[in-house]
Amino acid sequence: MNIDHLRSEFLEAIADAGDLDTLDQVRVAALGKKGRLTEQMRALAGMDPEQRKAAGQAFNALKDELAAAIESRKAVLAAARLEARLREERIDVTAPARFEAEGRIHPISQVIDELTEIFGDMGFTVAEGPEIETDFNNFTALNIPEEHPARQMHDTFYFPEKEDGSRLLLRTHTSPVQIRAMMAAPPPYRLIVPGRTYRYDYDITHTPMFHQVEGLVIDRTTHMGHLKGCLIDFARAFFEVDDLPARFRPSYFPFTEPSAELDIGCSREGGELRIGAGSDWLEILGCGMVHPRVLENVGVDPTEYQGFAFGMGIERIAMLKYGIPDLRTFFESDLRWLRHYGFAALDIPTLARGMTR
Ligand code: DAH
Repeated sequence: MNIDHLRSEFLEAIADAGDLDTLDQVRVAALGKKGRLTEQMRALAGMDPEQRKAAGQAFNALKDELAAAIESRKAVLAAARLEARLREERIDVTAPARFEAEGRIHPISQVIDELTEIFGDMGFTVAEGPEIETDFNNFTALNIPEEHPARQMHDTFYFPEKEDGSRLLLRTHTSPVQIRAMMAAPPPYRLIVPGRTYRYDYDITHTPMFHQVEGLVIDRTTHMGHLKGCLIDFARAFFEVDDLPARFRPSYFPFTEPSAELDIGCSREGGELRIGAGSDWLEILGCGMVHPRVLENVGVDPTEYQGFAFGMGIERIAMLKYGIPDLRTFFESDLRWLRHYGFAALDIPTLARGMTR
């Protein structure tokens, strides 16, 4: 093999290599383990010593020369590649911003965040429970036995009966989480439970799925004064009216005794609802002192512990606070509705709403 021939062939290939990959292929073809030059050098072993020495020097010189040529070509190609990349990735800082579809926080999520913050400041923690419940947790343990009329009022979605005659259900309120929380750990308790609930009902003010928030406070000396102070403070913080009138109206729930409903002041002058001082009242939640039988049912001694509970509809208070007229629109997934009633994901002041929180 003519060494000059090899030399000119590879020098030409190196000069012709238009990119780094091609150049590397040339390097492998010449100097790689199975490269042409490497093979030639291996063939030297069969020569006589004199010949071998001269040919060996010539091949080594060629090897160095090709290696140097590859290196310098590589530098040129790498620089060219960087140039091209810089050209391609140029950032035009004067270009207008591209439109990004920005999501909105659903009013339900927003109100749950607000509730959590207000009750969190009062020392409440957030508890959760499953939406598929047992009859015991949803009714029996809450002092609503089988034949109790309250069961009919709940319009329950039941699952098919199991072999043992029991049947699961979709919880009709968040109250079963009171039972779960009290069975899971010893008192005291101070928790809220925001979550989804289900009832077989559908009209302007009812959807089969809706949200409630439950509250439970049990300790040795918790009394009705605490219930009143806590819920009035909550209502004033939530509706952002410092002197919001509030009254507790006697009511009935099987799991509380006494039971009450909390009304807040409002006016309906000119057909427009305004929360705050006025001549009217608006019901916002149910509450009461936890029935001793409920405490017994979960193994908490009612002669040692007592406290209060409350429950309210999240859609309802969201509608009142944010002036949303129709409950059903909450769950129609209409993006125009969400853009209108939804909240910015960050606490950014907006002209429309002032601080979003
Ligand atoms: N669970 C009741 C309902 O769905 C609301 C409720 C009222 C919850 C009074 C309570 C309570 O914890 O004390 O209508």
